[in-house]
Amino acid sequence: MMETNRYIVDGLHRLDGEVWVHGAKNAALPILAASLLCDECEIENCPDLSDVHAAENILKHLGCKTLWETDMNGKKVLSIKSTGVSACDIPDNLMREMRSSIVFLGAIIAQCKKATISYPGGCELGPRPIDIHLSSLRKLGVEIQEDGECLECSVPQKLHGAEITLPFPSVGATENIMIAATLAEGETVIRNAAREPEILDLAGFLNACGAKIKILSDGTVAIHGVNHLTGCRYRVIPDRIVAVTYLCCCAAAKGEILLKGTKPEHLSAVLPVLEEMGCKLKIGREELQICCNTPLQSVSSISTMPYPGFPTDALAPVMAAACFAHGSTVFIENIFQDRFKHAWELCRMGADIQAEGRIAVVRGVECLHGARVRCTDLRGGAALVAAALGARGKTVIEDIRHVLRGYEKLDKTLNSLGASIICEL
Ligand code: UD1
Repeated sequence: MMETNRYIVDGLHRLDGEVWVHGAKNAALPILAASLLCDECEIENCPDLSDVHAAENILKHLGCKTLWETDMNGKKVLSIKSTGVSACDIPDNLMREMRSSIVFLGAIIAQCKKATISYPGGCELGPRPIDIHLSSLRKLGVEIQEDGECLECSVPQKLHGAEITLPFPSVGATENIMIAATLAEGETVIRNAAREPEILDLAGFLNACGAKIKILSDGTVAIHGVNHLTGCRYRVIPDRIVAVTYLCCCAAAKGEILLKGTKPEHLSAVLPVLEEMGCKLKIGREELQICCNTPLQSVSSISTMPYPGFPTDALAPVMAAACFAHGSTVFIENIFQDRFKHAWELCRMGADIQAEGRIAVVRGVECLHGARVRCTDLRGGAALVAAALGARGKTVIEDIRHVLRGYEKLDKTLNSLGASIICEL
């Protein structure tokens, strides 16, 4: 029997109401990896997503115990007990479940003094090298043997602090170094480190467990190694890309929605773009209201950059909104090689997009129409949902497993706002 895994979206229903923005996947994943080094911790606002379950499966394989509970406010809490860690490898099937499982490497090495993992390989966004992760871990005293498929890591003496200047502010590499250096002897300094809010959240978690991490105003990360981490109860930051996605859904479908439990300061590169497109925003401390009742206007160009620049993960949802805007918008992708696969799917719905290499030009059209389309990756899939909400007729979006990696109850939440989405799994 053929497996169905799709959304059927009936477009042109105005959105109206409130949305609670769930915890950030990209903050939760490195925190779960780091929990390997702590006795026992409770992660509040942990999103209930397939990528998080993949991380949980890795923790269980390593010997941790995990438990999901619901707190008084109905929010999910994931507890992890790491006192029984017995394995130091990640089998190939678990590595494949989630490409970003590489962020477990630093934690396993710090905990076991050795690690065996399979090589993560490429992904939907193009090649996904880990050279920066590996060269940085080597500086901390890790010996790494690569045989093309497998990585064998060991620490012949002790992990020790080092001065590391990253050639590019890689988010995952910064996280891996921070986690490993927490238990290294002496001081580690990471220059040209990534500055994403998820990095600050990881530092907040590790510090709450007894680590000594300082993030300087220029983004340099200084880690003073400690002997042991305790446990803690920690609340994950809200997901900024999920917030952007709901804003773009509203821009495409029209209407007025209020995002609650969000941090608008994490969206400082995206909100001005939406305002320029003609969306009216009311920005509170932890709330964000968007009102889109007039035709959208294009913006001249949007260029993705490391934080605090325009996030690469927000490109696809904003591109979906730009399909409806009057005029042309140029998108320049500077982080990943292959980030425009979803553009061809948008074209099936009547969008006018020309993409080549790292540049895509979107010429706005009056209306998109329903079509049969396929998710190509997580954020590309979310963009198809946003576009379908503003399209005339029915859109069938296949392969939504990509979307389920990063969005909790996307269909139910949008339906509660007045959308019409059937989810078939
Ligand atoms: C994280 C996010 C992802 C986001 C990205 C950029 C998670 C789980 N994922 O991914 O959603 O899109 O940050 O904000 O947090 N690179 C190398 N060598 C390396 C490491 C990275 O060349 O060793 C390159 C990558 O191929 C890519 C660029 O650097 O072109 C950015 O990658 P990086 O910042 O590491 O992204 P991730 O941590 O994988």
